[in-house]
Amino acid sequence: MSTAPTNQPYALHAEDFMAIEEEMGHYADPRAASIGALKIVQKRHGWVPDAAIPAIGRMLGISAADVEGVATFYNLIYRRPVGRYVIKVCDSVACFLTGYEEIGAELRKQLGVGLGETTADGRFTLLPICCLGACDRGPVLMINDETHFGVAPPDIAGLLEQYP
Ligand code: FES
Repeated sequence: MSTAPTNQPYALHAEDFMAIEEEMGHYADPRAASIGALKIVQKRHGWVPDAAIPAIGRMLGISAADVEGVATFYNLIYRRPVGRYVIKVCDSVACFLTGYEEIGAELRKQLGVGLGETTADGRFTLLPICCLGACDRGPVLMINDETHFGVAPPDIAGLLEQYP
């Protein structure tokens, strides 16, 4: 995973260009491919650098502001560098009632960071997230693409060890 400087011209990687072209082929309106394009760029860098926004806009034939609007709205698109593993803790109502505060506190204690922050070693970023659609199995959190259900504070240490 690499990072791209934000103050230099951005050229889409050839593989990303082709992947975005394929994504565009699925929709009559290229605007609909915005999220897919952002995810493709994010997969390469781990986040979406500022300079990639107009590059995506040019490719889709829409304004950078429109791409930025989608990136801002969609909370799984990261607009600044994140850790190797992103922990997303559901803070919506069902998980809030089943133990969000306790697991949030344990995560903050063990990681030594607050919500929205990344550990000094770049290993974890801790973020809140809206309902993950498993409200009957809360509290729920995701670490990158893996979802963990019914997490209790004593589970946290073992869980973090699974992500070296
Ligand atoms: S409220 Fe947490 S998964 Fe729905």
